[in-house]
Amino acid sequence: TRRVTVRDIAAAKQRGEKWPMLTAYDALTASAFDDAGIPVLLVGDSAGNCHLGYDTTVPVTVEELLVLSSAVVRGTRRALVVSDLPFGSYQEGPVQALRTATRFMKEAGSGAIKLEGGERTLPQTSALVQAGIPVMAHLGLTPQSVHAFGGYPVQGRGEEAAQRLLNDAKAAESAGAFALVLELVPAELAAQITEQLRIPTIGIGAGPDCDAQVLVWTDMAGMTAGRTPRFVKRYADMRGALTEAATAFAQDVAGGAYPTEEHSFH
Ligand code: KIV
Ligand code: NA
Repeated sequence: TRRVTVRDIAAAKQRGEKWPMLTAYDALTASAFDDAGIPVLLVGDSAGNCHLGYDTTVPVTVEELLVLSSAVVRGTRRALVVSDLPFGSYQEGPVQALRTATRFMKEAGSGAIKLEGGERTLPQTSALVQAGIPVMAHLGLTPQSVHAFGGYPVQGRGEEAAQRLLNDAKAAESAGAFALVLELVPAELAAQITEQLRIPTIGIGAGPDCDAQVLVWTDMAGMTAGRTPRFVKRYADMRGALTEAATAFAQDVAGGAYPTEEHSFH
């Protein structure tokens, strides 16, 4: 087996094939997704909320995502592993972005990196692409800007905002990004962008017409505590299953039902 590459991703759009992406933050979960044939795994800074216990993605550090990225690379054989550049690790400019991205490629073994922004992070995208680092762009609701957005509202609503997003998407493509995440964008706008770009769009809360779809794995598998956004579809009740298993284990230990003879050595 060989890993999925950005060339495979480009070919999928040519063939009109839709594909799935999931986040992953550890080796074991990543290996399950690899077995399921998920071609692209994102070590997202959603790890802040979903793995590390932060309230937003803002506090996530390069060191933290390097550790998680290394684990996901070690746990997989086939998937293309894409790592998010954390907030503050590329905003200063192309030199900082290149320094950070290089660490993910060399130390973690990531196959590509993702950063937020279109026009505003164009110099960063260009610098990485010119250095031979595949870049996935991310537009629409970009969670690292949560404090500027004042929450997580749908983006690109209205003529002017839609035009700005379309321009950003085209800018990301011409800077050399190999794919583009569209988060919380009206379905009609995402469809329009998807049609106008040669690179694939990866939607999350962006309707059915994107070339690919991504979900945060803990949302997808029902591991997240409490409410999830409306665009999420839950494919399992992992949290329920784990709580049930832990409760049963606790009862067995308290009641003496575990361990028994079959679990014991003499
Ligand atoms: O961090 C993340 O999980 C992401 C995806 C939602 C695209 O950026
Ligand atoms: Na992210």
